[in-house]
Amino acid sequence: MNPVAAPRQILIVDDDPDFATATSRALALEGIACRIAHDGAAAMAELADGQIEIVLLDIRIGPEDGTELAARMRAAAPGLILMLMTAYASVDSAVAALKAGAYDYLRKPFFLDELMQSLDRCFQLADLRRGKARAERELVQIRQLETTSRLAAGLSHDFRNMLAVIQANLSVLDERLHKADALKPYAQDALEAVQTAETLVARLLGFARARPMSGPPVDLRSLVSGPTDMLRRSLCAEMTLTVGLPDQPLLAPVNPGQMETAVVNLLINARDATGGTGSATIVLEHVWRGSDYARLTVQDDGRGLGPDALEHALEPMFTTKPDGTGLGLPMIQQMALMGGGDFRLVNAAGGGARAILELPCLKPGQGSGENM
Ligand SMILES: Nc1ncnc2c1ncn2[C@@H]1O[C@H](COP(=O)(O)OP(=O)(O)OP(=O)(O)O)[C@@H](O)[C@H]1O
Ligand SMILES: [Mg+2]
Repeated sequence: MNPVAAPRQILIVDDDPDFATATSRALALEGIACRIAHDGAAAMAELADGQIEIVLLDIRIGPEDGTELAARMRAAAPGLILMLMTAYASVDSAVAALKAGAYDYLRKPFFLDELMQSLDRCFQLADLRRGKARAERELVQIRQLETTSRLAAGLSHDFRNMLAVIQANLSVLDERLHKADALKPYAQDALEAVQTAETLVARLLGFARARPMSGPPVDLRSLVSGPTDMLRRSLCAEMTLTVGLPDQPLLAPVNPGQMETAVVNLLINARDATGGTGSATIVLEHVWRGSDYARLTVQDDGRGLGPDALEHALEPMFTTKPDGTGLGLPMIQQMALMGGGDFRLVNAAGGGARAILELPCLKPGQGSGENM
């Protein structure tokens, strides 16, 4: 049957409860979960949670006209894939079904094989659409990142020069002011602010200069454990950090500095989300996604993501922190997209947030001995 492992769910709309239950049971054996509706109102209600992609709809549901219901369902959920079932083998009913927006139609009674073949075509269409939607989203993200990079490069260059002038002048003032001078703290505060601004500019420049990954594959284990140990001793000293690393080297062609910065960013986000005293689990593992990928998961038990953060956290400059730059996650996202991987931040089932970074890697056991 369909080659994709994702669980499938379809809606069967039929006023004949025996037929609907028997079909649903047969499909369950094929790994397809079904919901059942016996009339138009129930069918419309099932669409409410947005989980249904494919509908198997009888063209006659009691007194109701299935083609009319099909049109209503497509209006409510434009991406819906409809397969109409008809007991009448006429050309008219097939044409009516297709006119109503059906992707396919089946003549009742049918064998399970026929149904499965038609459903497979529906699943393939659903997969194609999902792939297209994902590619479009990634394109928008890449464009956004490119624009921000160009902006960041221009701004940070000019800003850095101005900061150098401000700092030089402030340093002269600070040196001339006597320790006891009432103006001394003002000069020092201003110097400190300049330093903070310089850190920000350095981050912006790092963002703007990011290049696609290249160079020899590096063992990701050390790039994860190094920054984690460093933070365990300093900024995350009051947190419980649990680290899971694979036994074998996990080699990927990453820029080591970028990868370490990504780990630091994720752990500092976890620290901020847990108020500095929670716990975070960092897992590095090999996964198979049709080819070899290294997956880094950082999960915390913090406050999780609000609706705003869920939607915008990966956008440059989005931050909910008073002193945040909102560049940490976009930099990770940029690294992932440039390296042919991906990055996502979601709420974990038991609370807290989970960041997942996936990057193409070598097959475990291959290429060992280089850059360990
Ligand atoms: N683990 C997390 N739990 C909850 N919210 C998070 C988590 N990680 C990120 N966020 C949300 O996403 C926003 C963006 O994160 P990002 O790392 O890009 O920037 P930042 O942490 O705000 O600033 P900085 O540039 O200093 O990293 C955060 O301000 C926060 O609202
Ligand atoms: Mg951050």
